[in-house]
Amino acid sequence: MLRVGFYQFRPLFGKVARNRDKILRTLERVEADIMVLPELAFTGYYFADRAELTKVAEDPSESPTLSALSDLCRRKQMVVVSGFAEKNENRIYNSAVLIGPKGLIHIYRKIQLFFKEKEIFEPGNIPLQIHDVKGIRLGMMICFDWIFPEVTRTLALLRADLICHPANLVLSYCQEAMKTRCLENGIFAITANRIGADQRPHGTLKFTGNSQIVAPKGDLIYRARSQREEVYISEIDPQQARDKNMTEFNNLFTDRRPDFYKKICE
Ligand code: ACM
Repeated sequence: MLRVGFYQFRPLFGKVARNRDKILRTLERVEADIMVLPELAFTGYYFADRAELTKVAEDPSESPTLSALSDLCRRKQMVVVSGFAEKNENRIYNSAVLIGPKGLIHIYRKIQLFFKEKEIFEPGNIPLQIHDVKGIRLGMMICFDWIFPEVTRTLALLRADLICHPANLVLSYCQEAMKTRCLENGIFAITANRIGADQRPHGTLKFTGNSQIVAPKGDLIYRARSQREEVYISEIDPQQARDKNMTEFNNLFTDRRPDFYKKICE
């Protein structure tokens, strides 16, 4: 069994050091194997433009945020998945980092950008992949990736047991839809959403909270309230995600008929 969970909170826009301190203080008190934090957990979300984003995005090779998280993961023998504004030369990605006791394991860059993210971030350019950590096969996607079932399907076909899903959701559809993503793929998913709002001169975005953990048959293990800060941890058994049978005669993977699905690969 593994202890996995999320930290739902309200990041302060642009206050990277303060958000980092708050996250570290909270995780310091947590006893878990894997914790998931929201999308862009350290910076906030609703940037006016690229110039504003550039000031707070960090290059992973010299990032105080990733150094501090790595230290924490080493001391606590914990794995953390977190949203992260990633600077790479003159490009900025809406990324998720996977950090374990030995440091940075992988960076996923959001492949389907939402709304005005398209004006300030580069779309992701790293293939979807999974990583074996703490005996579970973990895949990552970020927020709006949820609406493309191809993402969860690809991760599941790569044999993910658990999808870690940092989010800054502003619409209300994702949480219910993730039950179906989990059912149709026989996987666990942790959606770590933020709460509160980014009130900016160019507009306000409100975030919907309701972070959740869903089991492979689509059952909701737990859903947080919409506007309350919360750490939640559940014990899960990765083996539950490895049985893809729906009936004695039906298997989620071997019953597939890819010859009939070619259109989705065009
Ligand atoms: C989103 O992708 N942040 C809605």
